[in-house]
Amino acid sequence: MGLFDRKNAAVPEDRPERSESAVTPEPVVANENGQPTAKVIAFANQKGGVAKTTTTLNLAAAFAEKGHRVLCVDMDPQGNLTMSQGIDPDSLEISMYDVLVHHTSIREVIRRREVDVACSSIDLAGAEIAMSTQIGRERSLEKALKPILSDYDFICIDTPPSLGLLTINALTAADKVIVPVQCEYLSMRGLIQLQNTLSMIRENLNPGVEIEGILPTLVDTRTVHAKEAIEILEENFGDRVFASRIRKTVRFAEAPVKGMSVLKYDPDGKAAFAYRQLAKEVLDGR
Ligand SMILES: Nc1ncnc2c1ncn2[C@@H]1O[C@H](COP(=O)(O)OP(=O)(O)O)[C@@H](O)[C@H]1O
Ligand SMILES: [Mg+2]
Repeated sequence: MGLFDRKNAAVPEDRPERSESAVTPEPVVANENGQPTAKVIAFANQKGGVAKTTTTLNLAAAFAEKGHRVLCVDMDPQGNLTMSQGIDPDSLEISMYDVLVHHTSIREVIRRREVDVACSSIDLAGAEIAMSTQIGRERSLEKALKPILSDYDFICIDTPPSLGLLTINALTAADKVIVPVQCEYLSMRGLIQLQNTLSMIRENLNPGVEIEGILPTLVDTRTVHAKEAIEILEENFGDRVFASRIRKTVRFAEAPVKGMSVLKYDPDGKAAFAYRQLAKEVLDGR
């Protein structure tokens, strides 16, 4: 049976076991000296337009609203996250390209907005080629983050729509991965490829990286198709699927134009509420 074939709802023993992390609150993360250190979360899915950038920024903003110190790292050459905080990528003299390729301190590319943003610009498109001959090319981001881990409670990394070296750097630097998934059958099949990449990363680069959760996004609750797609996700991934659902609303397209998260743009709206709920799920360890 293929991963996304419908299973008979009457065989509950086929459902994945509840994972430990789903029932136990997250411990406070500390480094080898016992100092608190940031929890690093990568937002990944090689498909474009599934709300990776939207989720990275709005979950980060929800953490910040709760008083956490948050950094967003823009690892996408399109610079959508950078733009979503009102920063023009074309105006930047240095960006994540310099951090990854020239080992410039990441502090030099951080701008303070609603959350701190390590900015990207189109230069980053050349990083994969420039890094390809470097030894330790998969660990460039991990190394860049090391000196600032104790400055933040959460570091949220937005990734480009591919499983290339930029995404591999993000997954290697991360403790957890959040996978936004557009609730359509065809989009969900890409999850198998992402799981294969994660297995490869675990074997070779970062044994501890785990999926924090799979987030149904762009949900149109009026359609039967969306409901079925969520059921298929839950049958295959059990409670690794977040209970939060991000519904379709035009607020998510409007907010970035103003350089704001939806939490700031429409603080009392349903869209903001959905990401606050998600933050609660992550903070409570579900
Ligand atoms: N819940 C939502 N409802 C409606 N539009 C959304 C929602 N989430 C994201 N969008 C819009 O969909 C587009 C793709 O989202 P984005 O976060 O850029 O995806 P990705 O980073 O995966 O390519 C953007 O125009 C964004 O504003
Ligand atoms: Mg994006």
